[in-house]
Amino acid sequence: MDIARTPATPDGNPEMADAATEPHKPAIIRREDYTPFGWVVPEVHIEFELGLELTRVVATLKVERNPAAERTPMIRLNGDGLTVRELQCDGETCEGYMMDGDDLVVTLPGDSHALRIVTEISPAANSQLMGLYASNGMLCTQCEAEGFRRITFFPDRPDVLSTYTVRMSGPKVQFPILLCNGNRTATGEEGENHWAEWHDPWPKPSYLFALVAGDLVARSDSFTTMNGRKVELNVWVRDGDLERTEHAMESLKRSMKWDEETFGREYDLDLFNIVAVSDFNMGAMENKGLNVFNTKYVLADPETATDGDYDGIEGVIGHEYFHNWSGNRITCRDWFQLSLKEGFTVLRDQLFSQDMGSAPVKRIEDVRVLRGVQFPEDSGPLAHPIRPDSYSEINNFYTATVYNKGAEVIRMMRTMAGEERFRAGTDLYFERHDGEAATCEDFVKSIEDGAGLDLGQFRLWYSQAGTPKVTAALDHSGETAKLTLKQHVPPTPGQDSKRPMPIPLKIALFDRASGTHRGEQLVVLDKSEDTFAFDGFAEAPVLSINRTFSAPVTIERSASREDLVFLAAKDDDPFARYEAMQELMGGHLVAAVSGELGENERIAAQADIARAMGAVLVDESLDDLMRGELMTLPSQSYLAEQMLVADPTRIHEEREALKAFLGKELRDEFHALYDRAEKAPYSLDLASRGARKVKTLVLAFAAASDPAKAVELAAHQYDNADNMTDRQGALMVLTGIDSAERTGRLLDFYNRYEGNALVIDKWFSLQASSLHPNAIEHVKALRDHPEFTLKNPNRVRSLYMAFAGTPHHFHSPDGEGYRMIADLILELDPINPQTAARFVPPLGRWRRIEPKRAAMMREQLERIAAAPKLSRDTFEQVTRSLG
Ligand code: BES
Ligand code: ZN
Repeated sequence: MDIARTPATPDGNPEMADAATEPHKPAIIRREDYTPFGWVVPEVHIEFELGLELTRVVATLKVERNPAAERTPMIRLNGDGLTVRELQCDGETCEGYMMDGDDLVVTLPGDSHALRIVTEISPAANSQLMGLYASNGMLCTQCEAEGFRRITFFPDRPDVLSTYTVRMSGPKVQFPILLCNGNRTATGEEGENHWAEWHDPWPKPSYLFALVAGDLVARSDSFTTMNGRKVELNVWVRDGDLERTEHAMESLKRSMKWDEETFGREYDLDLFNIVAVSDFNMGAMENKGLNVFNTKYVLADPETATDGDYDGIEGVIGHEYFHNWSGNRITCRDWFQLSLKEGFTVLRDQLFSQDMGSAPVKRIEDVRVLRGVQFPEDSGPLAHPIRPDSYSEINNFYTATVYNKGAEVIRMMRTMAGEERFRAGTDLYFERHDGEAATCEDFVKSIEDGAGLDLGQFRLWYSQAGTPKVTAALDHSGETAKLTLKQHVPPTPGQDSKRPMPIPLKIALFDRASGTHRGEQLVVLDKSEDTFAFDGFAEAPVLSINRTFSAPVTIERSASREDLVFLAAKDDDPFARYEAMQELMGGHLVAAVSGELGENERIAAQADIARAMGAVLVDESLDDLMRGELMTLPSQSYLAEQMLVADPTRIHEEREALKAFLGKELRDEFHALYDRAEKAPYSLDLASRGARKVKTLVLAFAAASDPAKAVELAAHQYDNADNMTDRQGALMVLTGIDSAERTGRLLDFYNRYEGNALVIDKWFSLQASSLHPNAIEHVKALRDHPEFTLKNPNRVRSLYMAFAGTPHHFHSPDGEGYRMIADLILELDPINPQTAARFVPPLGRWRRIEPKRAAMMREQLERIAAAPKLSRDTFEQVTRSLG
C-alpha cells in the first residue's frame, strides 16, 4: 500500500525530500513483500521537446484500476530528482497530489483516468548516465533498472506494461536523427525544428524505453525471418566510425538466424536499430527495437580491435538481441527475478558463441570468468542467491552471481534434460508466458513440465548462495570401481546452514593402458553423500569428473600428479584436459605458497608440469586456440580462492617463478611454436586467431625467463604487427619490462591511436595491469593525464578496473592500492554512483587476505563509510563489505 510521508508541495523540492529520506539508512526491499501494482497503465503518450541543456517532457498516462490488486485511492508515480511543472487529471488541473520523497502520489477518485504530467530535465547535467543524458553532443537514454523515473513520473516497475507512442522534436541541425522504440509512424518539420512520431505496438515495462537523438550515420542491411518477413537493420554510429561496423552487423544477422534455429524465436518488429554511444555505464542495453550499445561492443576493425574485442562484440550483440524474447516479450515481475532474463540470456549468448567459434574454448573462457569473478563473490561478504531475497539498491545486483551462476543453473537443467527436451521446456516457457512479467518459478515450472523433469529439489539452486564443494574419492577392489561423492554447501551471509542440492556431474573412467573410456555418464549427486559403483575394471581407472564443467562447483579429488599428467594429455573432453592442467599447476602453486613444499617435491612437481606442458606444445591434434588454454596458468585470483587466507605477494612470486621455470625448461619448444605461429597470415579464422594467441603467450613465458629476449621478440612483433591483437600482446609484454623499447613503443602506441578513445583505453589498461614494479606510480601519473576523465566510465574502468583486478598492484604491501581505489570511489560517487559502487567488491575481500593487509582494506572501507554524503549504491556495498 502506498503511504505518503511528506506533505504535498506543489513545487516538490527534491533537495528537501532527499534530506527527509536519510540517505544513510536506505529502505530495504524484500522479495516476499511483492504486491501487484494497484493500477494498470495500458497506454502512454510522451512528447519530448529535446535540448541538451533543457528537455521538456509531456507524458500522458492512461491509468485504470488493476482488478488483480487491492483497491487504493492513490497512485504512486516514481520520480528521481524531478519537479512537477504541470499536472492534469482528465483534462483539468489536478490539486490532489503530494510529493513523497522523490515520488509523486496522486489521489484518483474513479476507475479510469488520463494523467498529463509535464517535467523538465537537463540531460547535459546528467553525469550518472541514467535517464536521459548527453553523450558527445547526442542525446540518449538508459532506463534499466530505475532510470525512467529520471525522465518522467511513472510506476517505474517491470510489472507495469504499456504501449508507448512518442513524439520527439528538436533542432534539425543538432539532432538530424530521431530514434525511439518500435516503428516510425510520421515525421515533419517546423522551421528549424523537425519531429518524428514512433509507436511500439508491444506492451513493455518502462525500463525498456529508449530514445536517441543526434548526428548519426547508419550501416543498413536487412534480415528475412523464418516466416519471410523482411526486417530493416541499422547500426548507428558517429560519422567516421561507419567502416568499423561490419562485424557488428554480421553478428546481428547471425544472432537472428541462430535464435530462429536454436530456440525457434523470430524477431517481431519491422525495424531493429542499434546505436553506439561512448558514455555508457554498462556494455549494452536491450531496449525494444532500439538497443543502445557502448561503442566498445560495436566498433571493430583489425587495426584497432583485438580478437577478444571481436568475440566480445559478437557475444554482446547476441545477448541484447536474444533479450527480445528472454526479457522483452517475457519480462520480469520484479527485480528479484533478474536472473530470469539475465541468467537465461547469458546462457543463450554463451551457446551462440560456442556455435559460432570454438565450443570448448568458449566453455573454458566462461568457466574462467565464473571462477575468477563469481566464485570470489559467492565466498565473500556480498554472496547472494541467483534470486536474491532483499536489496537496497538494485544496481548492485547486476552481479556475476545473477548473470553467470544464473546461466550455469539453467545450463544444468539443459544437461539433465538433454538438448531436445530442454528445447521443449523453453518452447513451453515462451508460449505460456508471452506478454507477461514472469518469475523464476514460472521458468522452472515450464522446464519441468515441458522437459518432463522433476526440479523439486533443484529449486534450491535459486535460493541458496555459496559454491558447493564436492569431494570425490575413487576406490578400487576386485573388478569394481567405487566413486564416493560428498557435497558441502558453505554458509553465506544470512544463510548459516544449507540443504544438499542436486549436482549433475558428467564423469568418465579411463583405462590407463589404452587411454580410453567406455562412455561418459551423468551422475546426479543429490544427497550429502552417495556412492556409485562401476563394474568391469580389472585395474583402477583414472577419474575424469565434472566434464564440460557440468556443475558450478569446486571439486576436491585427490588425483595424483601422474593421473593429472595422464588426463592433460589423453582426456577426450577438452575442458577436462584444461582442468587437469589447471589442477596440476594450481596444486603445485598452492603448496608452494603455503611453504609446505620441500625442495625435492618442488623439483618433482615442476618436472611433471614441464612434461605435461611440453606435450601440449607439440601435440599436433590440438588447435592453437585450445593449446593456448592449456598453456594458461591459473589466475592469481583463482589461486587465492583456493586458500583460506591468501598472501597475494607469495602467490604472485610463485606464479612468476613457475612461468620462468617453464620458459627456461621448454625454451626450444616455445620458440618453435612461435616461429610456426608467426607465419600465419592475419584473418579472423580460428587457426589464425589461435596463432596470435599462442604467440603472445610465448612472449609472456619469455618475459619471465629471459626478459632481454622477450623485449627483442616483443618489439619485433609490435613493429611488424598488422593487427591489434599482435600489437597489444607485444605491448603488454613490453610494458612489464623496464627498457628503452617499453618507453618507445608506449609512446608510439599513444601517438598512433590518439583520438581513438577505445584504443587509448587499452593504453591506460596495459599500464595499469602490467608486471612493471612501478605500476602504482604509473597509475598515479596516468590519473593526471590530460586524457583521463572521471566522466567517461570506459576511461575510468580502463585505468582503475585494470588496476584493481591486478592483485600484485592492488595488494601492494604498503596499502597504497587500497587507498587509491578508496580515493577513486569517494571522488566518483557524486558523479556516477553506479560505477563507483562497482569498485567496492575488491576491497570487500579482506577476510580472505592476510591480516596486515586485511586491516588496511577495512580501514579504507571505513573511511568510505564515514563520508558525509554517500550514494545508496556505494553505501550498501560498503556496509555489506564491512559485515
Ligand atoms: N540489461 C543489461 C544492461 C543493464 C545492466 C542495464 C545493468 C542496467 C543495469 C544488458 O542486457 C546486459 O546484461 N549487458 C551486459 C553485457 C552482457 C553480454 C552480459 C553488460 O552491459 O555488461
Ligand atoms: Zn542482459
